[in-house]
Amino acid sequence: MAAVPNQEGHGRLEEILKGVGDLAALPQVVYKIVELTGSTMTAAQEIERVISVDPGFSTKILMLANSAYYALPRKLTSISEAVTMLGFRTVRQLAMTIGVFEMFIGKNDASSLRRRTWWRHSVDTALCAQALAKLTGALAPDEAYTCGLLHDIGKPLLDRYAEATYEEVNVLVEAGMSPLRAEERVFGCNHAELGGAAAHRWGFPEDLSACIRDHHVEKPESPTSRLAITVLANEMAKRIVAGSGPEGDSAEDQEWKSYPEWATSVLGFDEARLAAASRACAEAIASKSAMGAF
Ligand SMILES: [Fe+2]
Ligand SMILES: [Fe+2]
Repeated sequence: MAAVPNQEGHGRLEEILKGVGDLAALPQVVYKIVELTGSTMTAAQEIERVISVDPGFSTKILMLANSAYYALPRKLTSISEAVTMLGFRTVRQLAMTIGVFEMFIGKNDASSLRRRTWWRHSVDTALCAQALAKLTGALAPDEAYTCGLLHDIGKPLLDRYAEATYEEVNVLVEAGMSPLRAEERVFGCNHAELGGAAAHRWGFPEDLSACIRDHHVEKPESPTSRLAITVLANEMAKRIVAGSGPEGDSAEDQEWKSYPEWATSVLGFDEARLAAASRACAEAIASKSAMGAF
């Protein structure tokens, strides 16, 4: 799959991006939190200043800090206390998750349902990426989480900012066309190209934007471990969720060689390591419900 859209497609991508540009305020708040929580020099009060301008985010932080999961003896009412208690890493993950969630809210029931499914898949992929990073030591786990969470951000952007709707893609896919080809036919670009370009426009780090852009490229020019973790996490999340249905095979029964070869070799995975990775991902997805707040 080529990473560069054709001439006509490129024009349409630019057009969609113009609409996406108006939305830049939200990811900037999220990005500011991600940036601040990434530094050990940051004080909780500094993060509080950024969070408190966003009532939705402030509420979520307090809800999570006060949830049964942490079983605190007394209720926390201040954002900086909550930030200190939860830790920067959790706040960082929550910022990304909530920031992304806003983009997944649909205009009607059908689009909401579609976006909820994408959102769940994004969180599952984030958890798998984090588990793979821990297992391999090839990337900081919270950076892997971010890559997984944002890899398909182009889908809700297409659905929301392009003139056509994703419904038309689904019709073509049901008729047998591959999802990426169908997106290109309907929108003039696919979700990976649009997501990568939007991330670049929002000022996200270049390696994160590249990861979003290249996650469906068959033979990437820069096969980094960040990209390999994202690609495998995406695949594993899909297989684990499909495998948990009544008709599915368990994830471990999947043919391991069907994972992209370049990605398994970048991470040094043989069959046994891949099976262990798949188990770690399945556990990560299963533990998600323990957090309650998501
Ligand atoms: Fe994707
Ligand atoms: Fe995906």
